[in-house]
Amino acid sequence: MTPEQIAAIAQQGVNSIEQATDEKGLRDLEIQLLGKKGQITGLTRAISEAPPQERGVFGRAVNDAKKTVTQAIESRREALQDSALQAELTDFDFDVTLPGISKSSGTRHPLTLVQEQVEEIFVGMGFYVLDYPEVEDDFHNFEALNIPKDHPARDMQDTFWLKDGHLLRTHTSPGQIRAMGEYAPPFRAIFPGKVFRYEAVDASHEHTFHQIEGLMIDRKVSVANLISSMKVMLSQIFGREVLVRLRPGYFPFVEPGFELDMNCLLCSGDGCRVCSQSGWVEFLGCGLVHPKVLKAGGLDPEQWQGWAFGVGWSRLVMMRYGIDDIRYLLGGDIRFLKQFG
Ligand code: FA5
Repeated sequence: MTPEQIAAIAQQGVNSIEQATDEKGLRDLEIQLLGKKGQITGLTRAISEAPPQERGVFGRAVNDAKKTVTQAIESRREALQDSALQAELTDFDFDVTLPGISKSSGTRHPLTLVQEQVEEIFVGMGFYVLDYPEVEDDFHNFEALNIPKDHPARDMQDTFWLKDGHLLRTHTSPGQIRAMGEYAPPFRAIFPGKVFRYEAVDASHEHTFHQIEGLMIDRKVSVANLISSMKVMLSQIFGREVLVRLRPGYFPFVEPGFELDMNCLLCSGDGCRVCSQSGWVEFLGCGLVHPKVLKAGGLDPEQWQGWAFGVGWSRLVMMRYGIDDIRYLLGGDIRFLKQFG
């Protein structure tokens, strides 16, 4: 076969390649020409069979043909892919003048915002931040806190009991016993958490709400130090002095015990549904840890003393952000939550 004949075969191939209208057709042509049994591949095999004096010229012609065909296939493939893309773009029904769909970002919950603030304040005063279980046992929630089975104080915190004898903790105070068992004194810690009570719900009472417990254990602690820590917390959270009143309060796990009320910031003390028209919101319970509780926590009351507080974290959030109904906090209404962006 002469070089001219080989070039003619290649040219024929190139002509067909240029007329291929889709990638499948092009692939078939590629197999016909360059596949195992393809026309050009056959010629490549024939090089070794050509008479030695013609082999060089024949071989060059075959290689040129192979190169020409390969290039033609590549450029046709690119052209077909380009036009397919163009078709996809032009056929696509797309109105660039339509407004885009904006993605909105989430916001942190007001409970989280206040939690971060409280944690920062207490970590600054050397407190650990601890986390304890929401499902508790009778011992930690009641017995160890000096609330025996027949004690009337159990009625103060109506309880959700579980079938297996456990309960949903009614306050964060069981953490006191757990912390005393875990940390060597002296230590100080806060433990924020969710608590549960089987009680009627209104603007300032929820069945599921949040408290932050604080506990300080040392050789000697004082009520003065407890009260000043409460004042530091409140003035830092509200960014100013807030009006509070301290009154004696009964909690079996502290002695003496106090309740701290805060002037209702929603009505400036004039009276509203949140403060039950009293002008004051019951805000936290606190006191010196009862010796029986220290003992239950494994500490010797002759050597160690403690103070503790349990603040209504949900009510703190309400006062901080002027929220006039506690039910908004866990209501899951996105319009409410969006306001804290
Ligand atoms: C207690 O739960 C004690 N464990 C607090 C304590 C800790 C006292 C350490 C002494 C030492 P009390 O039941 O008063 O106490 O609740 C504490 C605070 O939780 C209240 O002052 C109030 O702010 C808030 N609170 C109580 N009940 C509810 C409720 N149903 N909904 C929302 N907040 C509540």
